[in-house]
Amino acid sequence: MCGIVGYVGNKKATPILINGLVCLEYRGYDSAGIAVLENNKVVVKKDKGRVNNLNSLEGIDTLEGTIGIAHTRWATHGKPSKENSHPHMDNSENFAVVHNGIIENYNELRQFLMEKGYTFLSQTDTEVIPNLIHYYFHNGVHIHEDKFLSAVKAATDDLKGSYAIEVISPMFPDKAIVVRKDSPLVIGKAEGENFIASDIPAILSYTKNFYLLDDKEFAVIYKDAIHFFDDSLIEHNKPVKNIEWDAASVGKDGFEDFMLKEIFEQPNSIRETIGSRFRLGEPCSFDDLEISKEYLSTINKIYIVACGTAMHAGLVGKIALEKLCKIPVTVDIASEFRYRDPLIDNKTLCIYISQSGETADTIAALKLAKSKGAKTLAISNVIGSSITREADYSIYTHAGPEIAVASTKAYTSQVVLLSILAMHFAEILNSVTPEEIEKLKSDILDLPTKIETILENTAEIEEFAKKVYTQKDMFFLGRGVDQTVALEGSLKLKEISYIHSEAYAAGELKHGPIALIENDVTVIGIMTDSSLVEKSISNLQEVITRGAKTLVVTNQVLPNAHFDFVVTIPETNPLISPILSVVPLQLLSYYISKNKGLDVDKPRNLAKSVTVE
Ligand code: M6R
Repeated sequence: MCGIVGYVGNKKATPILINGLVCLEYRGYDSAGIAVLENNKVVVKKDKGRVNNLNSLEGIDTLEGTIGIAHTRWATHGKPSKENSHPHMDNSENFAVVHNGIIENYNELRQFLMEKGYTFLSQTDTEVIPNLIHYYFHNGVHIHEDKFLSAVKAATDDLKGSYAIEVISPMFPDKAIVVRKDSPLVIGKAEGENFIASDIPAILSYTKNFYLLDDKEFAVIYKDAIHFFDDSLIEHNKPVKNIEWDAASVGKDGFEDFMLKEIFEQPNSIRETIGSRFRLGEPCSFDDLEISKEYLSTINKIYIVACGTAMHAGLVGKIALEKLCKIPVTVDIASEFRYRDPLIDNKTLCIYISQSGETADTIAALKLAKSKGAKTLAISNVIGSSITREADYSIYTHAGPEIAVASTKAYTSQVVLLSILAMHFAEILNSVTPEEIEKLKSDILDLPTKIETILENTAEIEEFAKKVYTQKDMFFLGRGVDQTVALEGSLKLKEISYIHSEAYAAGELKHGPIALIENDVTVIGIMTDSSLVEKSISNLQEVITRGAKTLVVTNQVLPNAHFDFVVTIPETNPLISPILSVVPLQLLSYYISKNKGLDVDKPRNLAKSVTVE
């Protein structure tokens, strides 16, 4: 969802900016643009459409400027168009701005500026920002000797909402100014040049040294220096963070799409998530989490809050936490939780799951729980992401960068991490027998090899995808833990194949949805729990009788069944079976999307990290 790149150095900025935008394409966007300082002017090149189109804009190849800002826009205020694309300039063309986030009071600010004689070219909320900077540059009280910085600060004081902003000005041809609030921004430091981006992969090929900007923190960036200021423009030092990911891990590695690569990375991402957190015969340990028995014993309720796939991981985690720790767990959608005054207090532990760590609703839900006195624990894949900086405790999935919009390896790593967390809490609380935990540990350790087995034979799923890719509707059914996987399988399918699909607890079928079953409708059944398999078979028989085409994912030997396709996966502990049963469903969505000739990694209307409400 909107991407920002910036460069301050000695090299031509344009190729670096465009390359950075290409790396951010996965976030989702509909227009792109750059602004470069050139011969005492700002030159802006922008248009709707793909980043690659920028290369054909007249004059872009002759830009020599070494300072620039760039943006991919995901339309919120105003349709995708050249006028609404970023960068935006003030009326005097002295300040160029790119912005991620939403300015909630932009109408009011626009009115104020129009009364002062400013005019607007776009329908965006962003265009008020360069004009406000211009206004305060000439009319404001300058609280810092750097008049440019003072004006940016005064302008942001007027903004309500979320923002990550980059500003350049030909009056100050040696620097860029950045600031953020509730929207991510990182600065990459290198020798004689510095980089700015919405997230690390965009500039990882240039440096591994990063500063993660805090809320309401300003940075003034020169080619050989970066100065940080707090919200009162008092300068401070900031430690640089070394990021271990390498640029190669952000490439496709010979796979046709990032999604396929990420599906195949799951054995390894699970190994990384397990890391040294447990070994057989030893208790679980988290280097990054110190939770005492005293505190844990006071907890009488756990909330797991997240969005989309991360929420589906939470549904699996709930089953493990309740079974092993005997603490009731409620799973909630972050956008609901944040507005419904949930019953939480200092005896509630709130767990927030977010691959990106930047999802606006999840962060807001976390802040709410903190304000009510609950302890908060973030599970994220991105070190230093906003959510981990807000939470009391943070633990990481270590799945490596996930680029495809459809989440796959992050989901399986989240489920693994939640299971380890449940075992860790159970060991602290002594709530189940050591044997039970030891068995689960051994089953978790076996997961990577079992996923490898599933990935060795994708032919059956490819064949089924060929048969059903023209369908309009599909249904996913499961009972118990399989119902959570049905939800995830259905979401994956919708996201990348644009096929309408529904997921139901199989027992609910007769209470309504069965009315939709007719000849040739596709129904996917997930059956991994031996205690429920007979009941699920009966439900599937009901749809077969009504003409449905069926695919079953199971680890059981199914008696006398008349399913069209059966994908057999290895058996495992029911608490973690979604980690295996989700893999065929990920592959099914992938192959259906490929058969339809769609853009698997960048599905329409979707963004990788949803940084606005
Ligand atoms: O970065 P997050 O885990 O907070 O993202 C949450 C959802 O937006 C995300 O899981 C979304 O549902 C994915 N596109 C699913 O594939």
